[in-house]
Amino acid sequence: MEIREATSSDVPAMYAVDHMAAEEGSRRQHIRDWVDAGQAIVALIDSTVVGYSALEYTFFGCGFIAMLMVRKESRRKGVATALVTRLEELCKTEKLFTSTNESNKPMQALMKNMSYEPSGIVYNLDDGDPELFYVKRKKESR
Ligand SMILES: CC(C)(COP(=O)(O)OP(=O)(O)OC[C@H]1O[C@@H](n2cnc3c(N)ncnc32)[C@H](O)[C@@H]1OP(=O)(O)O)[C@@H](O)C(=O)NCCC(=O)NCCS
Repeated sequence: MEIREATSSDVPAMYAVDHMAAEEGSRRQHIRDWVDAGQAIVALIDSTVVGYSALEYTFFGCGFIAMLMVRKESRRKGVATALVTRLEELCKTEKLFTSTNESNKPMQALMKNMSYEPSGIVYNLDDGDPELFYVKRKKESR
């Protein structure tokens, strides 16, 4: 598996792994913005993009994994673990945050597996499906 920064030539493949980007809309715009800003990474297996992730610094100045997506056929093979591990290496702040809906059990399992700490709950973003926040601190600061 190869993990590298996403380039504009990866954008169509990133749309393809993300069902929310099946049509032109805000997800496609976000993907283009992350790639243009140098904030996106992709995972490739046999030269095919199988997942992507995006790291922002807009969350109270801290690193924040704004998106993590692995195509259905490539799940449970360690792709998300490899992407998040790379973002942990790239993250310039002491704390790296992310969040997911309470209904998203696979993401919660991934967070537990990767030793992320729960860091609070925000209600009222998606009605009836609270947003669970997680954090991981750089090893040096522990
Ligand atoms: C959540 C997601 C990114 C996980 O990607 P993945 O590549 O399958 O994750 P990994 O293979 O690295 O999983 C590592 C570990 O996390 C846990 N885990 C991941 N998915 C799981 C699932 N569906 N059920 C139970 N545990 C799971 C397991 O402990 C797993 O280790 P194991 O396979 O040896 O048991 C993927 O399911 C996905 O793209 N979902 C849709 C998008 C999404 O919800 N993104 C996150 C919120 S933005």
